This record gives sequence, structure tokens and C-alpha cells, in this order.
Amino acid sequence: MSEFITKTKRTHYCGDLTAANLGEQVVLMGWVHRRRDLGSLVFIDLRDREGLVQIVFNPETNVHAHSEAGKLKYEYVVAVTGRVVNRPENMINRALKTGEIEVEATDIEILNESKTLPFMIESETEVSESILLKHRYLDLRNARLRNNLMLRSKVALETRKHLASQGFIEVETPFLTKSTPEGARDYLVPSRVAKGSFFALPQSPQIFKQLLMISGFDRYFQIVKCFRDEDLRADRQPEFTQIDMEMSFICEEDLLKTMERLMAHIFNAGIGIEIPLPIPRMTYKEAIDNYGKDNPDTRFAMKLKDLSSIFRNSDFRVFAEAVKSGNAVKAIRIEKGASFSRKDLDELAAFVKNCGAQGIAWAKIEEGRWNSSIAKFLKIDEMNSIAESMGAGAGDTLIFIADKPSVVNESLGNLRIHLAKKLNLIKPDMFAFTWVTDFPMFEYSETEGRYVAMHHPFTSPKIEDLAFLENEPGKIRARAYDLVLNGSEIGGGSIRIHKQDVQSRVFRALSMTEEEAKIKFGFLLEALEYGAPPHGGIAFGFDRLIMIMTGAPSIRDVIAFPKTQKAACLMSEAPSPVDESQLEELALKIRQPV
Ligand code: AMO
Repeated sequence: MSEFITKTKRTHYCGDLTAANLGEQVVLMGWVHRRRDLGSLVFIDLRDREGLVQIVFNPETNVHAHSEAGKLKYEYVVAVTGRVVNRPENMINRALKTGEIEVEATDIEILNESKTLPFMIESETEVSESILLKHRYLDLRNARLRNNLMLRSKVALETRKHLASQGFIEVETPFLTKSTPEGARDYLVPSRVAKGSFFALPQSPQIFKQLLMISGFDRYFQIVKCFRDEDLRADRQPEFTQIDMEMSFICEEDLLKTMERLMAHIFNAGIGIEIPLPIPRMTYKEAIDNYGKDNPDTRFAMKLKDLSSIFRNSDFRVFAEAVKSGNAVKAIRIEKGASFSRKDLDELAAFVKNCGAQGIAWAKIEEGRWNSSIAKFLKIDEMNSIAESMGAGAGDTLIFIADKPSVVNESLGNLRIHLAKKLNLIKPDMFAFTWVTDFPMFEYSETEGRYVAMHHPFTSPKIEDLAFLENEPGKIRARAYDLVLNGSEIGGGSIRIHKQDVQSRVFRALSMTEEEAKIKFGFLLEALEYGAPPHGGIAFGFDRLIMIMTGAPSIRDVIAFPKTQKAACLMSEAPSPVDESQLEELALKIRQPV
């Protein structure tokens, strides 16, 4: 076995060789991806990070190399010397970048052996995710994951280049810090020195970036890890990465335009997609009214329509009374949905029940009549106004939901997405961006019995709404914005409060006493008194962005070493118990979990 004193140095990456290299003498190093032993000839696919190339071992070219090739097994690491030649016409593989050529080996050195792997790299057969995650370093040999991470690296680099060209300065902020209020639970780190005290890992660098504006950095950015102990989903990880930014002396317009240029740059440099600018905008109210969600998927239409005013005076008592008691009736139109069977409609009803609605009413519009669960309760002119208002014609199907406005929006908004997937309405490779603006500043939390900040408490209220702060906080709109891409919230930010008195009033509206505010954010409140410039910023979910750019179905596919749904790393087996002595040093005692 070689101690890696190879006779020669690598000349090329395997995946880079093409017909342009014909006739060249090359030295390649990589892993044995596949091996076919035809007796007289041995073929291997040699793999490195750039891709695969076919190597042929022919005893007529070199007897020693051919006999060494007989010893090769999957994932052995080898150095191969040889000459780039044309593949015979019938062996050309146009699907492969290197598919026109092969390398005729004149020498081979086995650099390392490999045990039989727990799964084949790029296996056709399904392997359980827990096995893949346990051996993540092996799964990362897979081209799909490797390409995702290579794009991630490229986009990070392009982000840095672009932001530097726009005058942004990269500054690192602490990981061992105090709790920041982004709405999730903190990950805590006990202090050995100050026993009984804890650091919190940052949910975002929010306060630090505001302090950097107060320091006069003017434009800050960071590609930074954030930590949130929250329920995980396909697009959430407990530690994830943000492209975090803050700018001074700007208003919404400056910030949104700067961010649009960043998006256009990274989509173009990363995946060659032109994003038409400006990115469309809608208010929070428009998003909820038309799509039922504040992260609308605008790749397809099927907007929600409020029919409450039509039903208010209808003879259809169930809907009329619902509207009179403050509920809403909304509907969506399934174009050419008349082919939906009763079974299909039952399935839609079951779907919305899972979202909290009681069920659906439906109407299939046929020439001159409605085939509907509610037609017998409606007058002809009511049906006509509904059809007209929905833009519906023969062959379409309407789905109605009546309930509390929040339930109607949530269930119909989800049903809209469910139907788009079912009916294949979403074209692949489409990137539909939208800004959502004018968020409410606060929302009332039934569980906490108080108003909570919808973004975070450092967000500035709209100046014209400030007067409502003490008495009607629910009415205040925030100077906040989200960037939504294909129905996923990829970024959020705001213009901040830069006056200490306004910040104190907002804390009060959040039912935070002066004492509490001082304990939690005293340093920010104090800093705001030393000449804080007007400022604002935003953070993009970097993993989510890469997920959408690569089309990956899970956020785990764009993170080298991700956590499971249960926030654990199956490979390193973190989190894990620690030694009693470590606990003692920290003055910690573990209570048996109940
Ligand atoms: P926000 O909390 O909206 O804003 O976060 C910004 C973006 O980060 C992404 N994101 C996540 N991605 C993966 N896993 C998670 N658990 C996760 N949580 C959030 C989302 C989100 O849009 N400090 C503010 C920004 C600011 O006001 O400047 C903040 O963190 O894509």
C-alpha cells in the first residue's frame, strides 16, 4: 500500500476531461465508483469531486496495471496514469460530460482500500435516511449533494463579492451572547466562570448589527449561523445560516432595491437565471386576502375571492348567518375542475378539516345549471353573481369555505397549494418572487394573553400609525417586509426604531415593564441614546435560498452535516450526555427527565 509518495502528481480532475484532452498523458486520483471486469478488459468509473471518467485497463497496454485493476473494489482510492483516447462509437455516453472519451491506463497505484460501504454511492435502491445521515461523509460522495454544496459555496462567494462592491463590510458577531427575541426558544450554554448563568446562542445577530450602525459602520453584512430551538419542518433547521445585512440612512425603498440587485446577481451568477426587476410587491393584507397566507406562492393564480357580501342576504341560512356573525365566506375556482369526482371532492373536504375548517361546499358549473352541494339554497341571480365574481364558466368547479376569517384563509390558502400540486399547475424551474410589505406590528397571542411583535420588537411602526401605540396596538402597521420566493419566506427585515423613547413605548405595548426591558436589552436602549442613525436591514435564509435554487426537497440536502427532525446529529450522536465532572464544574445537576 502506498504511503502517498506517488510517482507523479495529479494533472486533471476526472470529471473535467473531454475530447479537448484527446491524446494527452494524464494522472488522475479518485475513488472507484463502478467496476466491470470483462476478463480481458477491466473498466472502472473513477470519481472525484468534478465527476466520473471511464478508465480502461488492457493487458496489451500494460500488463501490470491490468493485473492491479483486478484487485480493485468499490471506493478504493487510486492514482491512475494513462492516455485520453476516443471511446468506440458504440460506447459513447452523451449523458456524461466525459462520455466521449476514456483513459487507457498505463499505470495504477492503490492509495487506500475501503471496507464494503453500508450503501452504494448513488444507489438506485432506496436507503433509509437514518443510515445515510449516520454515514453522512459517505452520502456526501453523491453527486447531487456535492453539487448542492458546490452551488452553495459559489452563491456565498458571489454574495460576498456583490455586497463588497456595494460598500458592505463583513463583521463577525458573538455566538456566546444574550438571548435575542426572534420568537423561538434559545439554545443555552452554561458559564463555568459565572456559575448558574447562561449564554444564549444567537437566534440572529439582530441587536449586534443595530449596534454596528450606531458605531457608524454604515453598511454591514455577515453570512452567519443562527440557532433556534423550534419545531422542525422540511425548510427549518435548529442551526441555519442567514445572509444578514444592515444599512444606515436609508428608507424602505433604498433597502428593497439594494436587495433586489443582490438577488438578481446571485441568481444570475449562481444558476444563470435572469430575475426581472423590480420584484413585484403586495401588502400583507393583499397577501392574506388573495392567497390566504403571508408567504404567497405566486407561480400560479387560483386566488381566493371573498363572497361574504353576496351571501350576507342570501336564503342560504348557514352562510348568511355565518357572515352576519362576523365569519367570512371565501372561494377558489378550479379551472376545468368539473371532472372532479365525488371522491375527489371528499378528499378536498378531508384536507381542509385537517387545517381546522369544518368542510367545503362545492359547485360544478355546467351549461345553464349548477351541479352543487348548495345550489338548492341559492337563487339564480346569486349563482350568476358568484360565477361572475369568480370569473367562472361552464366546466369550472368552485370550492367554498365559511368560517372565522383566519380559518378560512388558512384552510383555503393551503387547499390552493394542495390543488396546484395535484393538478400540476406549477411549472418546474419557475422563480416567482414577491415582496410582502406593511405587516401588522403586533399580533395578539391568546396563549400569552398579550400582544407580541410579528417581526421583532426593534421594528419601527409606520410613523402615521404611532398614535395607536398605547390604545389600539392591533391597528399599527410595521415598516417591515418579507421576501417570498415560490411560496417560501426567504427573507425578512424592517426599518428599525432609532429613538429610545419609541423603543420604550414599543416594549410597553408588548407588556414589558421598564425593569424587564432594562434587564433584557438595557445595552441597546442605552446605545440608542448616543446618536443612533436611522437604519434598517434584512436577513435572508441562506439554506432556504439554496434549497430553492437547487430544487432540493429538503433543507438537509443543502447542509453538509444537518440535524434530523428531532434536532440530533446521527453521525456524531450529538446531543449526548456529558461526564459528571463536567456537570460539577458547571454546578449543574440533571433531573431525571419525566
Ligand atoms: P427572520 O426571523 O425572519 O428575521 O429570519 C430571516 C430568514 O431566516 C430564515 N429562517 C430559517 N431558515 C432555516 N431554518 C430556520 N429555523 C429558520 N428560521 C428563519 C427564513 C427567514 O426569512 N433578525 C431578523 C432579520 C432582520 O430583521 O433583519 C430575522 O432573523 O428564510
